[in-house]
Amino acid sequence: MGRMARAQTPRENDLLQLRGLAVEDVRSILVRGREFLAEIDAGGRPPGASRFAGRTVCNLFFEDSTRTRVSFTIAARRLGAQTVDLASAGSSVAKGESLVDSALTVEAMGVDAMVVRAKQAGVPHAIAEAVSIPVINAGDGRHEHPTQGLLDALALAEATGRLDAFDLSDLRVLIVGDIANSRVARSAAACLSTFGAGVAFVGPPSLAPVSLGSLGCEVHRDLDAALSGADAVMMLRVQFERHEPAVDAREAGWNIAARAAYRAAYALTAERAAQMRPGAVVMHPGPMNRGLEIDAAVAEGPRSIIRRQVTCGVAVRMAVLERALASGGAG
Ligand code: CP
Repeated sequence: MGRMARAQTPRENDLLQLRGLAVEDVRSILVRGREFLAEIDAGGRPPGASRFAGRTVCNLFFEDSTRTRVSFTIAARRLGAQTVDLASAGSSVAKGESLVDSALTVEAMGVDAMVVRAKQAGVPHAIAEAVSIPVINAGDGRHEHPTQGLLDALALAEATGRLDAFDLSDLRVLIVGDIANSRVARSAAACLSTFGAGVAFVGPPSLAPVSLGSLGCEVHRDLDAALSGADAVMMLRVQFERHEPAVDAREAGWNIAARAAYRAAYALTAERAAQMRPGAVVMHPGPMNRGLEIDAAVAEGPRSIIRRQVTCGVAVRMAVLERALASGGAG
């Protein structure tokens, strides 16, 4: 297919969501991620790191990011590809150009794969339908964040000694907090349950409505009651910028009483972390609201695998980019 031909989607080398992806496809990404993680830990460059020399990955980030954008950049460069960034601010999106037109424009310059983050659900899918190169979803609205789900599975498998087969079937994972606004929760639940983990959502009715049970997860209100049965607790950021009306994420978001009430019921404090099983781990996708959903002592404490999740992110993004670029011919 020529570069400018209209795409037939979904292509097997796109990664738009985890829900519905074949288990063997997810497993093969994790297996490759495991290999890349070992190479990162060993401090070396991956064998054949120049394999994708001359190939270009474009990061189209129409919403803010630290972890995802930087780790896709590092992952692409570790594979030997070059990267180029486009963000809403400073681009013609600010003049009213559509996100799909922006993607088509970048494609016409000769990039080989696109990594897309957007505030609105479905933008990566719309771009994938318009372009003929692989598209990777880096988080779209409240829908999915597939590479976050993959890195969560890799980090959890490693922390619990299940890297050999990714069999998570005896693990119980709590995802706590602002589930309703969380693409991370949706991708993590899809990925972890694919490998057998029991996943439960915990939060107040406003942030964890019972309707989320349609994702195949139990919904609980009482964090204290659920904690002692969990092998992993994934705390979520309260995403004030997605609340109605939206507020700047750096602002308080809730008044002092609302923050105190949330913290009393749902924060992972040192006291609560002490109630967790021996060996149970604490996860958070970041960025964190320290002192709201998680205390610094827990985030930095012995149960935390939060920074290891970040390292796993580079590894799985290498695997996902390799999958995308390898199908493009020159790889
Ligand atoms: N976890 C995550 O997606 O973080 P960023 O928004 O910083 O990319």
